[in-house]
Amino acid sequence: MMKTSLTRKSFLAAGIAALVASGASALHAAAKTIKVGFAQTGAESAWRTANSESMKSEAAKRGIDLKFSDAQGKQENQIRAVRSFITQGVDVIVIAPIVETGWDPVLREAKRAKIPVILTDRTIQTADESLFTCFIGSDFYEEGRMAADWLAKHANGKGNIVELQGTPGSAPANERRKAFGDAIKKYPGLKIIDSQSGNFERSRGKEVMEAFLKKHPKTINVVYAHNDDMALGAAQAIEEAGLKPGKDITIVSIDAIGEAIKAVAAGRINCTVECSPLFGPKVYDTVARILAGQKVEKKMFNKDELFDITNAAKALPTRKY
Ligand code: AHR
Repeated sequence: MMKTSLTRKSFLAAGIAALVASGASALHAAAKTIKVGFAQTGAESAWRTANSESMKSEAAKRGIDLKFSDAQGKQENQIRAVRSFITQGVDVIVIAPIVETGWDPVLREAKRAKIPVILTDRTIQTADESLFTCFIGSDFYEEGRMAADWLAKHANGKGNIVELQGTPGSAPANERRKAFGDAIKKYPGLKIIDSQSGNFERSRGKEVMEAFLKKHPKTINVVYAHNDDMALGAAQAIEEAGLKPGKDITIVSIDAIGEAIKAVAAGRINCTVECSPLFGPKVYDTVARILAGQKVEKKMFNKDELFDITNAAKALPTRKY
């Protein structure tokens, strides 16, 4: 019995050492395949699709057995997926938490089962940070600040803003809203006159923008969208109302998906702050380090940039999402 478990352990160690050393396909040679459970939020945006694809393709490249679950926008589905990963005895659980609160009970279950948890993309609110091993993603507060500063600089400190918020209760919606609000306080001429959730979805963003245009005729100067899908939906609503997005109404957004950068280069959206979804490689490097017993940083943030008319066209040919 003892002998078997020692043998399995040394096979796993060999696999991890190979993964750490090469970061790639050497794992196929190891006896034990690493199992990772990924509880994804859903497929609400082009950003999310690129994120899922990065996680799946990188797992395939490294020979990792990825158990992928799409929660279809529901926290209860994500929690159910995490419980099933625990039952299946995966080596590491990765969660992109749809909302910030309500995670402690299931994270405690993972901790009791001694399965490390990596939070990716979105953070959570918890009084006990030992419930997760680390976080990998973008700094949403910084993204909101960058969008507001760009606007303040290009709008001469004046404008009536409508805000399209992301999923209620999610970290990106909460932090992008707070950061933008904090930053525009310095400019009394910039005012948020209306704000509503478009749930990070293009169709919802368009519907909410149509309602804003009806409710505030000839009043709106700026759209602040928490993501590009909603910004693109809003641009369409503006066009259908007989106005020119990017000219009659300034649009500032976040994500920097290829389609939005194209719209920036064409002057249809005015600026988009990057939020890279391509963190498959970083997540699996971290999985390998955790399983090899190495200490990892508690919070790892991606470095994101901003695109406007000055650099969008140049960025297009090499854009990966
Ligand atoms: O959590 C990241 C956000 O979620 C992205 O900005 C958005 O497009 C996605 O749906």
